Parts: sequence; C-alpha cells; structure tokens
Amino acid sequence: MSLPPLVSATRQIFKKMFGGPPVIMAHAPGRLNICGEHTDYNGGLALPLAIDRHAVVAVKPADSSRIRAYAMAFDEQIEWMPGHAPENLPPWASYINGAVTQFQEDFGLKGGIDIVVNSDLSIGSGLGSSAAFGVSIALALQILSPRKIKVADLPAYCQQMENSYMMVETGVLDQTIAIFARKNYALRIDFTSGTRTLEPLRCKNCQFVVMESTESRQLATSGYNERVAWCQSALIKSRKILRDQIRNLSGIKSSQLAHLKSGLTPHELSIVRHVVTENERVDICARALVKGDMTTLGTALNEAHASMRDDLEASTERLDFLVETAQSQTGCLGARLVGGGFGGSCFALLESDQVESFIAVMSSAYEKKFATGLPIYPVASDDAASVWRVYD
Ligand code: GLA
Repeated sequence: MSLPPLVSATRQIFKKMFGGPPVIMAHAPGRLNICGEHTDYNGGLALPLAIDRHAVVAVKPADSSRIRAYAMAFDEQIEWMPGHAPENLPPWASYINGAVTQFQEDFGLKGGIDIVVNSDLSIGSGLGSSAAFGVSIALALQILSPRKIKVADLPAYCQQMENSYMMVETGVLDQTIAIFARKNYALRIDFTSGTRTLEPLRCKNCQFVVMESTESRQLATSGYNERVAWCQSALIKSRKILRDQIRNLSGIKSSQLAHLKSGLTPHELSIVRHVVTENERVDICARALVKGDMTTLGTALNEAHASMRDDLEASTERLDFLVETAQSQTGCLGARLVGGGFGGSCFALLESDQVESFIAVMSSAYEKKFATGLPIYPVASDDAASVWRVYD
C-alpha cells in the first residue's frame, strides 16, 4: 500500500474504534541499509535509505487518564492506565506504554490517549519496523507534550525508548534514517562523529528488491545482544593489546587485525574483522553509488553478505539460500541480508528489466525448497518521518 491510502485507512479505523477523528497523525518509514550492519553501536559507518513502507499512528488526548490502543496488524484493542500496565501486555502495547510513560516523565505529557497503530512494514522483518513505530509514536506524543524535544536529539531518545522497553541493545541506525531520510538519497552516517551526508542514489536502470525470509524474530531473543557483548569484550581487550584508548571498534585499522589474533577469542576476532571491513565497504558503496557504478556496488553487497554470514554469524539457512539463489540470477548485481540478521529479510540489486522474471524465479525456488510463499517486492527510496494535525 502506498502512504496516502495507509494514512487514510488509519484515520478511518480511528474514527470507527473511538467514535471521532484523531487530532494528530504521524508516519515513519522503514529502511533498507545498503551497507553497514552492526556498525552503529561500534561507532562505524552505515549507508541506509528510507523505503516506501511505513508505520502510521493516529492519536487523540483522552478525557480519561487511560490509554486505549488498537493495533491493526493484530486486530487487538487494549486499555490500561499508563504506569500501571498489566504484566502480560503484548510487545506493541508495551512499546506504547513505555513511550507514554517516558513522555510524561520527560516532557510533561498529561492524561491518557486513544491511539491506533498501523503499518505496511512487516513486523520483525529486518526493515526497521520497530524504530518506525517508535519514531512515529514519539513524533505524535511530542506535539501533545508541553515541553519539546529537539529533532537532533530524537533518534537517540527513540533508541533509548526501544532499548528499555524492548529489552534489546540496538544502535541508533534505524531511528536516524527514519528521521533524516530524503527521497532519492542514501544517508551516509558516521556514528563516531555524528556526521550525516546525503548521497544521491544514482542507481541507473537498477532496482532494489526485498525478499522476506518470514523467519520472524524478536531481536531481544536473537543473538543480537550477544554480538553487542562480543564487541564490548573485544574492545576492552583490543585497547590493552594495541596500547591505545580507541573509543570503539571502528578505531581499529585493518593493518592492526593481525596483532589482535592471539589476544581475542575467535568470536571476538571475527566480529572485529566484520566491523573493520564493513566500514571500508560502506565507503566503497557510497563512492560507487555516486558514480553510478552498479557493478562495484553489487560486488560490495555480496562481500557484505559473506561477512555477515561468516564473521558475524548472523545469517540463517533461509537467508543464505535466498542470497545465493539471487546472486546466481541474470541481471542480479548483488544481494545480501539486511538489518540485524537472525532471520528477517535480504535484498537484491537488480537490472530493472530483469525484475519481473527475478520475482517469478525466486518465488518458485523458495516455495520448492521451503514449501512456503516468499514475500518479494521492489522498494523505492522515500522521505523522512513527519507529523501533522488532523482537522476533520
Ligand atoms: C537492527 C538495529 C540497528 C542496527 C542493525 C544492524 O536494525 O536496530 O541499530 O544495529 O540491526 O545494522
């Protein structure tokens, strides 16, 4: 669904559920990260773009001090008092509860709310759905709060909200692109300096196509936190070995990897190698994009997948099957898994005139191998999140 019908459907549902229109609506896009996975919490580089799939929220302050929330994806309505939520709240409602409680404490939000959350991003598909929800909810709540948060502080604020209420130590990649994206550009982010540069997407006659493995996963119960822990212990040891107080793993040069070999565990060494080589690949991809050099871009994507699979150990049988099958198709310039890994999605960079046949071949190969359908679709770049008042 494109954004206007998704917004209009969300407004209609709100009216139906709560007997009148919302006062505020907001949306935030999902993302496709061209390159730079698990680099954000290591002070590294990434190159995401926002995609034309979104989370949308509709909100109205409530007369009572309760939260009444409806999630379209689960067709579920729940009501509770903020700060006194029942223990068995589903994750989507617990996210809303966390956001409301946080805005009450930090920005003076008062009373309850009625809220509808809707999305055409599959949840847990590795396309930044969680951050898109968090950012759209935060944008709506900050309009209703007397004290405001600066836009520049919003990504880190939403990240911290997600970390505390979803029990996962994710970085700030997804929130940053949701808030600072621009259509037809990728965003090169340097997580040490905080620098962001828009890089024009010169993908001449090429198309990104997403494939969802449908192995949905909650990052909290995946190996994500374990990878964060490997990086933390690798950093402590690397500082000692290199006798250098590097700020993060991105301070390590590829020429130093050999010195670390004897002092790190195999897992730590390979995750450091992933971070160091992934940062290099981000700049290879950024330069290739700007030049419109799709062959170099595709090769870097294939190498990024191999690093995610072998050094980060974050791929799965289904993702490897999809990526390898994609890489061997005519017109496929490169493919790799996207996001945190451990399930979720991958994408391929395709010559535009091959998209139709690629979709047909991939769908039938996946069905044959795993006896299940493959959600597969082209994605286009899109603009950042926004929030607006509703007058009818
Ligand atoms: C998830 C996290 C991000 C980032 C990616 C991997 O999407 O939310 O912070 O770490 O995984 O690059």
